[in-house]
Amino acid sequence: MNIKQFSIWLNSHQSNCLILIFLSIGSLLSCTTKSVPSFQENNLEQFRPSYHFSPAKGWMNDPNGLVYLDGEYHLFFQHYPDSTVWGPMHWGHAVSKDLITWEELPIALFPDSLGYIFSGSAVYDEKNSSGLGSTTNPPLVALYTYHNLKGEKAGTIDFQTQGLAYSVDKGRSWRKYEGNPVLDNPGIRDFRDPKVTQVTTADGNTTWVMTLAARDQVQFYQSANLKDWSLLGEFGQGIGAHGGVWECPDLLSMKAPDGSQKWVLLVSINPGGPQKGSATQYFIGDFKQGVFTPDDTMIRWLDYGPDNYAGVTWANLPSTQNRTLFIGWMSNWLYAQVVPTPTWRSALTLPRELLLFDVDGTLLLKSAPAKELEKLRVKSYDLSGKESLLPSTAVEILAEVTRDDNFSMMLSNELGEEVIISKEMGLVTVDRRKAGKASFHPDFAAAHAAPMSWEAKTLRIFLDGSSLELFVNEGELVITSLLFPSSPWKKLTVQQGLGGIEIFDLTK
Ligand code: FRU
Repeated sequence: MNIKQFSIWLNSHQSNCLILIFLSIGSLLSCTTKSVPSFQENNLEQFRPSYHFSPAKGWMNDPNGLVYLDGEYHLFFQHYPDSTVWGPMHWGHAVSKDLITWEELPIALFPDSLGYIFSGSAVYDEKNSSGLGSTTNPPLVALYTYHNLKGEKAGTIDFQTQGLAYSVDKGRSWRKYEGNPVLDNPGIRDFRDPKVTQVTTADGNTTWVMTLAARDQVQFYQSANLKDWSLLGEFGQGIGAHGGVWECPDLLSMKAPDGSQKWVLLVSINPGGPQKGSATQYFIGDFKQGVFTPDDTMIRWLDYGPDNYAGVTWANLPSTQNRTLFIGWMSNWLYAQVVPTPTWRSALTLPRELLLFDVDGTLLLKSAPAKELEKLRVKSYDLSGKESLLPSTAVEILAEVTRDDNFSMMLSNELGEEVIISKEMGLVTVDRRKAGKASFHPDFAAAHAAPMSWEAKTLRIFLDGSSLELFVNEGELVITSLLFPSSPWKKLTVQQGLGGIEIFDLTK
C-alpha cells in the first residue's frame, strides 16, 4: 500500500481499534483527555513543514536582515528562486505578525554588477543617522555582503565587500545605496556577513557596531551613519573552534541571571561543528571599545544537533518584549543541497528566545521555543500508557524526566523506521540512523550526542514535515535534526524514564 492509499484507508476508518490492529501495536493506548484521532496526513507536499518557514519554491540558506517594525517580524533570507541548489544569491523576504504564520513577499534584493547578495543584517535607523530617510519617516537599513563572482574566478582575494540598501516603505521596496560598497575589502578572502547593532558608549551616546566574519575570526567596525565604517578590533585568534571558516556572527548584550550585563558573541563555523559540517559556537564575555574579552576559553555550542546553522537575532524588538529572539537555518552545508525535497530546499528553525543560565557557576546560553508557539496547540492528548499514535505530522510532545540517568523514547512508522531520543551516561542523543531516507549523503544517518552534566527534568519535542527539535529543560540543551521518514511518524513509544507525556496537535 502506498502512502496515499494508506491515508485514504485511515481516513475512512475512524476507529482507534482498527488503527491499533493495523499498526500491530501490542500494548495499551490510553488518552485521558480526548480520544486519539485517526492519523491524517496533512495536504502539504511530503516533508514540507507546516509551522516552520520554508520558501514557496527554490533554494534558501541563512536567515538575513531580521528586524521588527510596526508589528511585523521581517525575515529576509539567502535565496535562489530559480533552482533548488545554491546559486546567485538574492534576499528573499517574508513577514509575520505572530512568528507562526509567515507571508512570503516579493524578493527584496537582487544580485547586481557588484555581485551576489550574501548574508547580512538590517536595522531601523530611527534617528535617520544615515540620512537615507527622514526624521518623520526613518529608513530600514540593510548591510550585506557583495560576493563578486568575476573577482573570485579571476583568482583575486578581495571579491567580498559590504553593501547597503534601504527602505522607506516598511521593507516593501529597497534601494541600493549609490556609494556602494560602503566597506572595501582589505585583502581578506572570507570577509562577510555584517551584523549591525546599536551600542551605547561610555559617554551615554549610541553608535553602530558591525560584527563581520573575517577568515576564522571576527572584526568589529564602528559607524555614526551606517555608511562610513572604521575598524575597532578583532577577536578569535587562538580561541574557540577553528575547524572551518567563521560566518554569520552576532554580538548580543544580555543579562546574566545575577542581573549583570554580559556580551554574547555567536559565530557559525563551517566545517568544524561537533556533529560534522556546520554549527554555531558562542562566547560569553565583555565588550568595550571594540574589544571582546571572553570570560574563559571553553568551546560552547548553541545547538548540539547537526541542523541549526547561521542563526542570528532580531533587531529593534520593542523594549516591552525584553527578549533576544533567534532563528537559524535548519540544515547543514554537508548535505543541504541534496536533501530529498524536490521543489524547495530548506526551512528555518523555530524562533527561539536566547537566555543566559548558570550551571555550577558557569554561564551557558539556552534557546527556548518562542512563547508564541504555544498558540499552535490546537488539541492535546495525555499518554498514560507506553504508546500513542501521533495525531498528525505537526506535533509537540512534552515529557517529564523520571530517571535522569537513563531515559528513552522512540518515534516510529509502519515501515519500521525510527528515531530514538535518549539520555544515558551523561549524553543526550537523537539517533536518526534508522530514521528513513538517508542515501543522499553518507553522513546523514547518524546518532548525535550532546554532553549534559546537569539534571534533565523536562523534554519538549517539536516535529514537523521533516524535522525534530529537542529542547531539554526549555532549551538548556538543544538538538535540531532533519528527518526524512519514508512515511510520516505515527507512533510514540516511551521506553524508559519518562512520564507525564502530553501530545499537542499543531496542525494549523
Ligand atoms: C553561511 C554562508 C555565508 C554567506 C552565505 C552565502 O551559510 O556561507 O557566510 O554569506 O552563506 O549564501
